[in-house]
Amino acid sequence: MTQPIVPTPYLPDTGALGMRKLMPPPGGTLIDLSLNESSWGASPAAVEAARARAEVPSRYPDPMSTALREAIGAHHAIDPEQVICGNGSEELLDVIARCYARPGDEVLFPRWGFAQFGVVAMRVGATAVKAEETAGYVTDVDALLAAVTERTRIVFVANPNNPTGTILPEAEVTRLVETLPPHIVLVLDSAYAEYPEDPEYTDGMAYVAGRQNVVVTRTFSKGYGLAALRVGWAYGPPAMIRVMNTVRGVGNVNAVAQEAALAALADQPFLSRVRRETAVERTRLFQGLGALGLAPLRGTCNFLLIRFPADTNHTAAAARRFLLDRGIVVNHTAPYGLDGFVRCSVGLPQEVDAVLAALGDFMV
Ligand SMILES: Cc1ncc(COP(=O)(O)O)c(C=O)c1O
Repeated sequence: MTQPIVPTPYLPDTGALGMRKLMPPPGGTLIDLSLNESSWGASPAAVEAARARAEVPSRYPDPMSTALREAIGAHHAIDPEQVICGNGSEELLDVIARCYARPGDEVLFPRWGFAQFGVVAMRVGATAVKAEETAGYVTDVDALLAAVTERTRIVFVANPNNPTGTILPEAEVTRLVETLPPHIVLVLDSAYAEYPEDPEYTDGMAYVAGRQNVVVTRTFSKGYGLAALRVGWAYGPPAMIRVMNTVRGVGNVNAVAQEAALAALADQPFLSRVRRETAVERTRLFQGLGALGLAPLRGTCNFLLIRFPADTNHTAAAARRFLLDRGIVVNHTAPYGLDGFVRCSVGLPQEVDAVLAALGDFMV
């Protein structure tokens, strides 16, 4: 049998590849808070644009996503030539790994960093290296810098990070950008950039100008609520974007997705409402969990990472099963090595009520 090119010893310990999307049973309901999706849906204008383009399936999409890149450029005041669109930002993380890392190279990221960082490293046969984080589950810039070797090719940092929800303050991002050797690609994954209100937060976009090695990834999956359509983008130095364009799939962003993303970007009032209402419900969830004696990390986006007690009756795994029996799906982060935690998206008001009521019963 032909051997796979992917070296199996690198198969990830994240479980991400085995992930399955649960859908509500026929006639039943399911509150799915497991995948950091937006509970607020998408702009009606984006849904309508998708519907209209779906009427013309015989025509290929624009392979350069031109109109969308121009709209992103105008909205963020950046050069559209320095923007590449992807089939979700996950495709672009993968493209970066395929462009810049080979077997024998090292891909570095924080210990509790986004699971796909390890997966994209594995796909190209590079070695995933994890740097310790602070005791507060925040990216530790000194630990990252100390883990750099002559083999390091890429450093990935998600800010805010998934699954922790924590942010790396701007001063620390600046220190990382300025200290990392410039031959190493630094990927600032800003998938949740639409959410944080913390004045210390930076989406990283300002670090791209004048550098050859810093690239920022963004997505329409989270705040804009287009996860099903798979639209992400990256902003980077012209030379990097050129190389990435040769490696990505042709027509990687389908036409329905391009139209929907364009309309979503144009509907900023919708995004503002999502941001505002997510923050209100996140605070309510955070406080409600605290009142139950649970300890969520101080999240900044549309999910919280909740620590469960060590006592055998109230473990994170038991909580996840208990919630599932009530039709509520949350994510047990054991595959990350975060055994004692559950990650829960911020739901609509009635969904937050349901989570708090169920966990109230669980914790008695
Ligand atoms: C930190 C982070 N980066 C990137 C992604 C990928 O998002 P998408 O491929 O939907 O753009 C996710 C998805 O959950 C994420 O949490």
